[in-house]
Amino acid sequence: MTTYSWAFGLAQSKLADVLPRRWAHVQGVARQARELRSIAGDQAELLETAAVLHDIGYAPDIAVTGFHPLDGAVFLGDAGASDRLVHLVAHHSYAALEADLRGLSQQLKNYDDEGGLLRDALWYCDLSTTPHGQKVDARARIAEIQDRYGPDHLVTEFITKASPELLAAVDRTQVRLDACEALS
Ligand SMILES: [Fe+2]
Repeated sequence: MTTYSWAFGLAQSKLADVLPRRWAHVQGVARQARELRSIAGDQAELLETAAVLHDIGYAPDIAVTGFHPLDGAVFLGDAGASDRLVHLVAHHSYAALEADLRGLSQQLKNYDDEGGLLRDALWYCDLSTTPHGQKVDARARIAEIQDRYGPDHLVTEFITKASPELLAAVDRTQVRLDACEALS
């Protein structure tokens, strides 16, 4: 069994029945990750694995703090996932900022944000996928989140403050993708 097929089965078992929309989103993020194989190179499987597991912390039987990057990371660490995979999930899509807003920074400090190509690519995939799993422009996705939660919600506060960092990761990934495609 490959790491990815283990991850897919795990995510499916935790999300498909109880949170079908989240499962559709996760599968869309994994599809996007596959499209980034050219830039991920020999780390392509890790990227796809992180993509399919990034939201596993939403599963009701995994959620402990209610902050899904942290809950997912704790669960995956206990499940024997590699440290790198656990840390990527813990820090996906600028979770550090949301942890700050939720008063959970101390717990997230157990994990490192590795920065760089793979981490940017994971953020790109998440930001470029709708809640239903379709591909979307990252800027439109951010606007949709602000609209869905409304001006007073913590998620809106987070996404608004996080936008520059999120979009920088998206744009860096797009540049890497364009450069790769220009060479092929
Ligand atoms: Fe996501």
